[in-house]
Amino acid sequence: MNEAQLNRFPPGFRWGVGTSAFQIEGGVAEDGRGRSVWDTFTGVEGKIHSGHTADVACDHFHRYEEDFALIARLGVPGYRFSVSWPRVMPDGRTLEVRGLAFYDRMVDALLDRGISPSVTLYHWDLPQALEDEGGWPARDTAYRFADYTALVQELLGDRVDHWTTVNEPFCAAFLGYGTGVHAPGRSDEVLAMRAAHHLMLGHGLAMQVLRAGARQGQEFGLALNFAPALTDVDDARYREARRKFDGLHNRFFLDPALGRGYPEDVLADIRHLGDWTSVIHYGDLETIAQPMDWLGVNYYAPARVIPLEDADAVSNCGLPGLRGVDVTPPRGPLTSFGWEQTPESLTDLLVWLHEYTGGLPTEVLENGAAFEDRVEQDGRIHDSERERYLHEHLHAILAAIHSGADVRGYVVWSLLDNFEWALGYTQRFGLVRVDFADGLRRTVKDSARYYARVIEKNALPV
Ligand code: FCB
Repeated sequence: MNEAQLNRFPPGFRWGVGTSAFQIEGGVAEDGRGRSVWDTFTGVEGKIHSGHTADVACDHFHRYEEDFALIARLGVPGYRFSVSWPRVMPDGRTLEVRGLAFYDRMVDALLDRGISPSVTLYHWDLPQALEDEGGWPARDTAYRFADYTALVQELLGDRVDHWTTVNEPFCAAFLGYGTGVHAPGRSDEVLAMRAAHHLMLGHGLAMQVLRAGARQGQEFGLALNFAPALTDVDDARYREARRKFDGLHNRFFLDPALGRGYPEDVLADIRHLGDWTSVIHYGDLETIAQPMDWLGVNYYAPARVIPLEDADAVSNCGLPGLRGVDVTPPRGPLTSFGWEQTPESLTDLLVWLHEYTGGLPTEVLENGAAFEDRVEQDGRIHDSERERYLHEHLHAILAAIHSGADVRGYVVWSLLDNFEWALGYTQRFGLVRVDFADGLRRTVKDSARYYARVIEKNALPV
């Protein structure tokens, strides 16, 4: 193969840009929308940077036509977005037709422009009413999620081919109920593990619902966020630290989805948490183990881990029940979020997943970087750091493909600068700038033009 061929992506490679409902929509009181745990959480003092809320966010609820015109102008063929459960079911149970109609209009507006929609059913905005009944630590939430899935599929299924059940159950469970830095902000290791199981159960039930109502050409999967564990030393203690971190962060969610149940070594590591496993009912593991068409891989950065002298010492990793391992500071150059830029870890991850899953196709459903963009004199945003980040990570994907990994798509996080959860509007991930101080004006950044060129050629510039 010559250099130009080496830079090519496989034919049919799926390119996209991504967002999530709570982070961009605003319109929180429109058309009967109910409250989500994130609406409540953003109202709690001290939880969100500078007290930012997502009441308006990017006002995408009113500007989706303009945003889709931008996607079309850039020539991006796919758009990954999430449906807001409380917009469609304000109390988590009852249909609000006007809420569902919004997504109906959105899907039509995308298709009219030749953009193919990819729906994520759960991107963390649980209806507050369901949280009041126990939230994800309660088993019933998984069944309510299945009902909601059926409803959305019934309305959008005739036009949407690409479906993700749950986005990053790790974050929803461990950050929402473990460390409490995300909504609903509960902080209890046992609750976090229960929530994790019910999110996985919800994924399995939703997969069953989607499969049962499927038509030809539809594909379903789960999106997991992976943090590959790196160490400087490769002796037995460091390998053990890697095993522990990787076990709870990565394999704990992956293994059951693949039909292997929860990893025994992880269950042993956190045995001291007591009987949280009583939430795992007979048959649950079979329910979770639904065959997926692809695995969604969300990747931003690796984690650097070290073993602690005392194997029982409480860890700073934020993983429920983890002992004897710490994460150490990331190595520069960092993004404004403070994350490392280590594209090699993405190659290694995709190659490892290919072997570990026995060849299950993967789609990178989130990857991108936040930087402190500046609007230059010429009115443009020359975000060369973001452009380099994307270039290097796309290169890393090509390297994985050349090593045999079956990677079928790539979605940049994110189309727009948006509400970055606990960090409010301080982290700009967009290919398109949103001026939050100036009428939410959209400006295409240089990185978007770079991405448009890659898509046009289905290849990296040589
Ligand atoms: C992921 C989330 C996404 C966004 C990026 C930066 O974990 O899925 O909503 O916040 O991180």
